[in-house]
Amino acid sequence: MKIDINALAPADQYKLLSATIVPRPIALVTTWSQSHGDNAAPFSFFNVMGENPPVLVLGLEQRRDGGGPKHTTANIAANGQFVVHMVDEALAGAMNVCAIDFPEGQSEALHAGLELTSSSTVRPSRIVAAPVAFECERIALLQLSPGRHIAIGKVLVMHVRDGLLDPATLHIDTEAYRPVGRLHGRFYIRTRDRFEMQVPGYAQWLATRR
Ligand SMILES: Cc1cc2nc3c(=O)[nH]c(=O)nc-3n(C[C@H](O)[C@H](O)[C@H](O)COP(=O)(O)O)c2cc1C
Repeated sequence: MKIDINALAPADQYKLLSATIVPRPIALVTTWSQSHGDNAAPFSFFNVMGENPPVLVLGLEQRRDGGGPKHTTANIAANGQFVVHMVDEALAGAMNVCAIDFPEGQSEALHAGLELTSSSTVRPSRIVAAPVAFECERIALLQLSPGRHIAIGKVLVMHVRDGLLDPATLHIDTEAYRPVGRLHGRFYIRTRDRFEMQVPGYAQWLATRR
């Protein structure tokens, strides 16, 4: 079935994209505003886009009640700083609470029972319980349409929970890390069911075909 996705209503485009491009990693993002302090919200339109410089991207929709940009978008527009926290199995429940549309000025982190600490290079606080966190500064905040922004951030500093990283090899212990991914809607996935596959060299690949 061929779908003319651009002819669909935005909500239907979202439905198809978010149910097929799965699983997506989840960024629990803290930002800060002068008037309302710390803000925390999850985003699964999220990924790494490169190294040197280390670059992360977030896909930010407008509020669905027509109330303009989300607090995260407004805060990144105002001061250009955010902290991305990866979500593991232990943090999933608190991440879900942070997605609630609390009235402006109420701390999602507080309601979710998350302890915050000062970041080392940016004003938004860091979530202590996160297995991995990236302190970021804005490279660009692109507005693609009235309803859609993309934030591109450079990672200034990375934090990894003790025990997850071998400092000698820089290997992450994925078994201990246990990040979760988002499927569509209210469905999520664990990352414990892995399989292994190596890309062979061309000669090796040819040899296995004979
Ligand atoms: C797992 C998960 C992933 C989400 N991903 C996104 C996303 O990629 N983009 C987005 O705009 N909203 C996303 N949301 C919804 C926001 O988290 C929600 O609108 C939040 O209240 C925004 O908070 P803010 O206004 O404080 O920025 C997601 C929610 C959940 C639970």
